[in-house]
Amino acid sequence: MNYENKLILAPMVRIGTLPMRLLSLRYGADIVYTEELIDWKFLRSKRKYNDILDTVDYVDQTDGTIVFRTCKEERQKVVLQLGTCDAERSLKVGKMVENDVAAIDINMGCPKEFSIKGGMGVALMAQSEKAKAILKELVENISIPVTCKIRIFESPEETLNLVNKLVSSGIKAIAIHGRTRDERPQHGVHADIIHYVADNISIPVIANGGSKEIENHNDIYKFKEQTGCTSVMIARAAEWNCSIFRKEGLLPMDTVIKDYLKLAVDYDNSPSNTKYCIQNILRDLQETPRGRQFLECQTLEQICSIWGLGDYCQQKQSQYQKLGIQGRWQVNPEELEPPNKKIKLPEKELDGITQMKVCFIRANFNDLNLPKSRLHAWAGKNRYKIPVYETEQIEKLFRTIITFNGHKYTSSFWEKNKKFAEQGAALVCLHNLGLVTQEELIQLGSIIK
Ligand code: FNR
Repeated sequence: MNYENKLILAPMVRIGTLPMRLLSLRYGADIVYTEELIDWKFLRSKRKYNDILDTVDYVDQTDGTIVFRTCKEERQKVVLQLGTCDAERSLKVGKMVENDVAAIDINMGCPKEFSIKGGMGVALMAQSEKAKAILKELVENISIPVTCKIRIFESPEETLNLVNKLVSSGIKAIAIHGRTRDERPQHGVHADIIHYVADNISIPVIANGGSKEIENHNDIYKFKEQTGCTSVMIARAAEWNCSIFRKEGLLPMDTVIKDYLKLAVDYDNSPSNTKYCIQNILRDLQETPRGRQFLECQTLEQICSIWGLGDYCQQKQSQYQKLGIQGRWQVNPEELEPPNKKIKLPEKELDGITQMKVCFIRANFNDLNLPKSRLHAWAGKNRYKIPVYETEQIEKLFRTIITFNGHKYTSSFWEKNKKFAEQGAALVCLHNLGLVTQEELIQLGSIIK
């Protein structure tokens, strides 16, 4: 892959999933980055070919969720961005994906606490030897190009020093977000520092950070000129309207949403991710009556109906269902790699709480039979108050206690996130109300021995 003269969709958590990447390519992007994927989470997944969608899916073995979905159309153009602080783990991921993606990028620019605490993102800019070692390990051992994405330091010289060190690892290009680790998106971008680095190194520099001033396609070329780079990477301007990549000009928001939704349906994107991406296109318009109607949606079909694509969604989903997409990556409880289940609350705290050991495996449910939705629907129908959820966290594990109609319910299985803990507790509640049978719990893979 070459990095000269390219328009690039930037890595964006939750935004850079398959439908948004494909739409950006169709509108004119040359290269698309995935959202940042964390190495140890990626290593929990297994590669599977999905013959219904003709995609390659990396499936989390603990819950059957899709960590990364890709397809032929983007094969030569997709860059997998990795969050890592470890050369060995990065290489393992590199080896797993080298035949499915065009390149690998290491995120060295993320200023979020989660990244810094884990020694990832901008933490690597302060540990240039380690950063170089990660890149070198990949460059020397995988068959596809390796790049990294950094922020700037306050001085051009200090930034160039770091860049020179990283370049000596053999990377093919470097993306530079023209803000320091403490600067936020509303701060101006330091195009001059990107320019200085681009003038002084031999590999392509990809300029990033210009969205505040990028309102139409021509503005991209202004940013290119200001930074002296041949390639530009765009995040927010594309998040809001990815037709920014179109040479012919921006498309109306509703056209973009429709184009996006068709891809979301075609590639069976999750309703929550689809909703999130559309929320970020709608922005302030979520306050309109149509926006509020959209916010109530829980299924793809409901979302599609707002944009006149309800029938399209229904037909496609029933076609997929006939082919057996439902429960495709169903996880067997025996194969589950559960979180540490040893945590026990003091008995007295559990007095009066109905407890069972069930887990919630997302891949074994569809959008319509989620435990919480079932419980809430039943509560509504029988005029009970909506249940109250209280979740506690110990280390990286979560457990929820539900209070419903004067009783408390919980699962003694500690889940890996709050949402799953709530669903698990709702299952216990449903079972005790007689609304979910033991057989159904077994079928859903929820019973833990
Ligand atoms: C980001 N950014 C980002 N950067 C990165 O290297 N990996 C990531 O996963 C993410 N995730 C992410 C999510 C969202 C919603 C936004 C808005 C941004 C930062 C992004 O790639 C880019 O560096 C900055 O947004 C600056 O570029 P723009 O927005 O001015 O084009």
